[in-house]
Amino acid sequence: MDISRLSHQGRSLQIFLLSLLLLWLLCGRASHAQKDVLFMHGILSGAQEFDYFTTLINEYRPGTRVHAIKMYEELSSIIPLWDQVAAIRDEFGPILTNTSSDGVILVSYSQGGIISRGILQSMKHNVETFISLSGPLAGQFGDTYYLRFFFPLFLKDNIYRLFYSDIGQDTSVGNYWNDPHHQDLYRNFSNYLGLLNNETFFVNPQSKEFRQNFLRVKNVVLIGGPDDGVITPWQSSHFGVYDANETVQPMEKQKFYQTDAFGLKTLNEAGRLHIHTVPNITHTHWHKTEMIFEKFVLPWL
Ligand SMILES: *[C@@H]1O[C@H](CO)[C@@H](O)[C@H](O)[C@H]1NC(C)=O
Ligand SMILES: *[C@@H]1O[C@H](CO)[C@@H](O)[C@H](O)[C@H]1NC(C)=O
Ligand SMILES: *[C@@H]1O[C@H](CO)[C@@H](O)[C@H](O)[C@H]1NC(C)=O
Ligand SMILES: *[C@@H]1O[C@H](CO)[C@@H](O)[C@H](O)[C@H]1NC(C)=O
Ligand SMILES: *[C@@H]1O[C@H](CO)[C@@H](O)[C@H](O)[C@H]1NC(C)=O
Repeated sequence: MDISRLSHQGRSLQIFLLSLLLLWLLCGRASHAQKDVLFMHGILSGAQEFDYFTTLINEYRPGTRVHAIKMYEELSSIIPLWDQVAAIRDEFGPILTNTSSDGVILVSYSQGGIISRGILQSMKHNVETFISLSGPLAGQFGDTYYLRFFFPLFLKDNIYRLFYSDIGQDTSVGNYWNDPHHQDLYRNFSNYLGLLNNETFFVNPQSKEFRQNFLRVKNVVLIGGPDDGVITPWQSSHFGVYDANETVQPMEKQKFYQTDAFGLKTLNEAGRLHIHTVPNITHTHWHKTEMIFEKFVLPWL
């Protein structure tokens, strides 16, 4: 046996294995680099809300294409949601429908969550994962700073008079106002949340399409918690709704769930719905907390 020949072979093998490892690492990196993350901001705010998470993505998953949606910021966040959804679809359609991307991930905060529902239900997108940070996904019924900001003359108990009218539906908040004491009016007027949930008296001719579109998402991740302080009830972030006694009834008790009106039940039964309750996070901190990013966003990137 020629020892030097053997060690030479050994070295070749070593170099070969090292090259393989390097190639694997490079490909691994490259595959991460081909994902797209879209961020949709909340009411009375803008794309900069996601500056912190963008920094974290650049750090943990360098090369990921991050797109913070810089539309309908600040005061224009009150514009009716179908208008916002249509314009966002136009602007970000090529990314939302990209079949070559290694994964399109839509991350939304607060009102951005209900806007995202509109996008995901109304187009043939290619979004793989939808992550909602404290979104009023099943509506809002509460006196919060933004209600007082836009509608200082109203209280939550009487604002249905405005919101459940054609004029009221010309505001984003009216579009997802869900007053448990005036459900007949809600079903007669809510042309956004009511349509998304297929619970209006008037018929949505596209309800089946809306459902098929929503089911294109592989995984839906819902994050919310009892110390939120703005989304009311906070369980709306998990599709919970107040009943007529203002007791929160969970998603499973809702007709839209039981009839699988937009695919929520299908997603849940297939293990594609991931619901997380996180205490001690106030509304403005969901997107500013590293733990939230690490536990609930990073695993999907
Ligand atoms: C779609 O993804 C591919 C592969 O990552 C990329 O080259 C292309 O630029 C993307 N298209 C858009 C519109 O983002
Ligand atoms: C629904 O709205 C129509 C007008 O758009 C009105 O005629 C009807 O009375 C309303 N019904 C309820 C239950 O509010
Ligand atoms: C509300 O509470 C009352 C009294 O506790 C009860 O009779 C009624 O059935 C409740 N309504 C709903 C919708 O749960
Ligand atoms: C939506 O509701 C209507 C009745 O109001 C029903 O005919 C239709 O099948 C529902 N769509 C879906 C997707 O469940
Ligand atoms: C709640 O959050 C505050 C502020 O982030 C922190 O100082 C405190 O330790 C937290 N409390 C618990 C019980 O996690």
